[in-house]
Amino acid sequence: MIKKIFVTQPYLPPLNEFTPYLERIWNSKILTNNGPNHQELEEQLCNYLGVKHISLFTNATIALITALQALRINGEVITTPYSFVATAHSLLWNGLKPIFADINPDTLNIDAKKIEQLITPNTTAILGVHCYGTPCDVDEIQKIADNYNLKVIYDAAHAFGVQCHCGSILNHGDLSVLSFHATKVFNTFEGGAIISKDAKTKDRIDKLKNFGIQDEETVIAPGINGKMSEINAAFGLLQLKYIDQVIAERKVIDSNYRKLLEKVEGINCIKKGWDGVSNYSYFPILVESNYHMDRDGLYNKLKHNNLYARRYFYPLITQFPMYKNLKSANKENLPEANQIAQKIICLPIYPGLTVEEQKQIVEIIVKNN
Ligand SMILES: Cc1ncc(COP(=O)(O)O)c(C=O)c1O
Repeated sequence: MIKKIFVTQPYLPPLNEFTPYLERIWNSKILTNNGPNHQELEEQLCNYLGVKHISLFTNATIALITALQALRINGEVITTPYSFVATAHSLLWNGLKPIFADINPDTLNIDAKKIEQLITPNTTAILGVHCYGTPCDVDEIQKIADNYNLKVIYDAAHAFGVQCHCGSILNHGDLSVLSFHATKVFNTFEGGAIISKDAKTKDRIDKLKNFGIQDEETVIAPGINGKMSEINAAFGLLQLKYIDQVIAERKVIDSNYRKLLEKVEGINCIKKGWDGVSNYSYFPILVESNYHMDRDGLYNKLKHNNLYARRYFYPLITQFPMYKNLKSANKENLPEANQIAQKIICLPIYPGLTVEEQKQIVEIIVKNN
């Protein structure tokens, strides 16, 4: 029996290297509220990612909720059904109506061609997701947004370090939101961030994540507590030293899988279909009808062999009870998303996964029973 292998494993730098960061926190006695580690991580992330302004958060879900507040979004927001449920939940937490558009089967992101037909007088924004770190069709989406005076927010939870034709993918749209959850390429245990383009917007976001407090006597908005603590920020500073190595290791694993799976009938490795830099955050495959069993058959076979692949994203968001009765959640309107959700499996990918382990995974996939 193979040892248990999960879809991901967090990267953890050597523990002894974290001690000096802890000592600094203990000495300063500053645990949160925009402390020195927090400030330094914001600065270093701006440099590393190639973005102008970043606001750190306790997690991406609170960051998404705050991003929608910061832009004062109301009414209806066009989004994708093919994502982690937090994307749509951030709309409901703001009293907004999600309108689901189908996905492009090549990118697995919202299909820009399906957006326009869903716009009504109540539409105020588009919430796209760079699923698996694959960039959305940002130029087309921006054109539509400009024509209809809509805001664009990107859930970039998967897109740390991703670059498209013109630099960081995070510079597109009005705001982008990153996740630094333990399962992500860059993690701070829990964490997230909003990328904004101007200092005024960052200032508003920073106030919103701190209860809406402006100064000792003034509260300007019903803000929330979305602050990242010093311990998470310190861990982020240490992680950042290893991020290039982490992404390089992921790249090797990605290319090994592609070679190993190349000739396996019915297994379709999703191609990197854009010009730019990937972060290799996931390794999604599609189980096609000419594979010798269906997707759930393969999923269960892997599980039976201690290989915990994940069906991201199945079920679709539109299948959950709080969304399924919306007109736009109707299966007939979302044929591509529904098909992909039935075929998708994400294979294990993380620094430390060995070639031997990859071969074992592929051996199980190839085995005809
Ligand atoms: C696409 C997407 N959006 C949002 C989130 C929520 O992020 P967090 O766990 O940091 O709140 C996740 C996953 O964790 C995600 O995959």
